[in-house]
Amino acid sequence: MKFFIDTANLDQIKEAQALGILDGVTTNPSLMAKEGITGHDNILKHYVAICEAVEGDVSAEVISVDFEGMVREGEALAELHPQIVVKIPMIKEGVKALKYFSQKGIKTNCTLIFSAGQALLAAKAGATYVSPFIGRLDDVSTDGLNLIQEIRHIYDNYAFQTEILAASVRHTMHIIDCAKIGADVMTGPLSAITGLLNHPLTDIGLAKFLEDHKKGN
Ligand code: G3P
Repeated sequence: MKFFIDTANLDQIKEAQALGILDGVTTNPSLMAKEGITGHDNILKHYVAICEAVEGDVSAEVISVDFEGMVREGEALAELHPQIVVKIPMIKEGVKALKYFSQKGIKTNCTLIFSAGQALLAAKAGATYVSPFIGRLDDVSTDGLNLIQEIRHIYDNYAFQTEILAASVRHTMHIIDCAKIGADVMTGPLSAITGLLNHPLTDIGLAKFLEDHKKGN
């Protein structure tokens, strides 16, 4: 399972990268705004800085909602750095853009996936990744993990190569459940990733080992 960090915060990206378990980064316009990154040129510079801080795929989202605009923006984003994956929303024009980029060999991440039907369309259009937002489904009393399961089933039926990128991950159990189901990738905040480290018995056990070692010296 690949681990992506879902943030535009460079310090957090570098911290996850230093752990040695990071496979990529996802961003979106809200995450960029949260870091105070505004204005076309600053946003592009920030994508390059993220690419230089990590080794894997870095999703950069288009703002256009028409095919021509998505193509123009996506091509410019893809030219920024070889690690850029063009993030496209799941709308009709987006499906056309996914197909266009797929034929050009440019990687894509189809975002805002909330149903199995949307995931099926994105795979047929040749998306590299689909991003089902599991946390946001949970927020409206709909089982986000069930969607991951449905998509896994459909993709396996037809051997679709599109990778399931579980997004809107909020906590450690989301990550563990996605791994059990067989999501290819998860993207979540640093807190969910480092949360996997924690177990009180590890802390108690380590404290005891260190204490006993002192006794013997
Ligand atoms: O990867 C999608 C993500 O950024 C959305 O997360 O927590 O805003 O639902 P959230």
